[in-house]
Amino acid sequence: MTFLFKSEARRGEVWRMRLQKEFPNLDFRIWPDVGDPLKVKYVACWVPPADLCQEFPKLELVFSVGAGVDQIDLSALPSGVKLLRMTEPGLAAGMSEYGTLAVLAAHRNLPAYLELQRTRAWKQLPAVAANDRSVGVMGLGVLGAGLLDSLKPFGFRLHGWSRSPKVIDGVTTFAGPDELVQFLSRIDILVCLLPLTDETRGILNSTIFNALPNNACLINVGRGGHLIEKDLLDALASNKLCCAILDVANTEPLPVDHPFWTHPKVVLTPHVASVTDAEGGAEFVVTNLRRHLANEPLTGVVDASRGY
Ligand code: NAP
Ligand code: GLV
Repeated sequence: MTFLFKSEARRGEVWRMRLQKEFPNLDFRIWPDVGDPLKVKYVACWVPPADLCQEFPKLELVFSVGAGVDQIDLSALPSGVKLLRMTEPGLAAGMSEYGTLAVLAAHRNLPAYLELQRTRAWKQLPAVAANDRSVGVMGLGVLGAGLLDSLKPFGFRLHGWSRSPKVIDGVTTFAGPDELVQFLSRIDILVCLLPLTDETRGILNSTIFNALPNNACLINVGRGGHLIEKDLLDALASNKLCCAILDVANTEPLPVDHPFWTHPKVVLTPHVASVTDAEGGAEFVVTNLRRHLANEPLTGVVDASRGY
């Protein structure tokens, strides 16, 4: 049987060594060297090959090499093929680092100080104590819950919003559309860590921004498709929002003439908040392949009806 890998070559070599050690009979191939398509049972990819299921009729598992699966057409997967999203610990560690960096930057007015530096203005802005600052995370999954945990030592008032109700020690939680406005009404620093689905596309819009207190900061580490960019520009212009820290964009790479590049209240990074660790990803695949071969439950299985 064949394991077909279609992603970054360096990561592929790490996976090849680890998988061949664990499963000596597995034929590990790197795209486009597919070999006999009838032998392909497992595919790991960011964007899958076209006509995945027609091309590989014996397919059993698809591994997303990242946490998100919005790049994959879930409707094209037959019900017998399971899609697994990546949940290796390096992804959560990276997101906790980046999320903490961004929350602290917003809390300590770094976007405003960067702009003051550009204008050579030595000006001290009022400081706010962490326990007077409310941080809210949209999405309380592996990454959102991990970030909230990392923020605990700083003393912020922590809040979270998810689809189903959650109990998280030290975090005030809200769930579903009915509790969204109540959640937002108290948030100074809003972090989006939702998956991109039909329900969450465009969720960061003027309605959400207007439900926040004045001068809130938006941190988007989910997907560019969550954000209505025009609504963000309007909210920054009207001072409804004081700044935005964006790791993702609707079009990546961000077009050179996009207003975010030079916006005085926007800090940009090029989709680097967290990246799957090569070794951690290989361990995730080995564990799940072992379980699959032993008919045991898998981790990170995507529910196509929910879209994540
Ligand atoms: P996850 O474990 O599947 O968690 C998703 C969370 O979002 C869950 O708490 C879920 O609620 C909530 N949610 C989903 N739909 C919702 C809705 N309609 N309303 C309210 N809450 C909703 O995902 P994860 O591993 O934490 O990853 C989250 C996302 O981060 C990924 O999908 C990806 O887009 C993004 N990401 C970005 C980067 C980057 O570098 N920028 C890196 C990795 C991942 P329930 O708990 O009730 O199910
Ligand atoms: C990166 O954005 C991921 O989904 O892992």
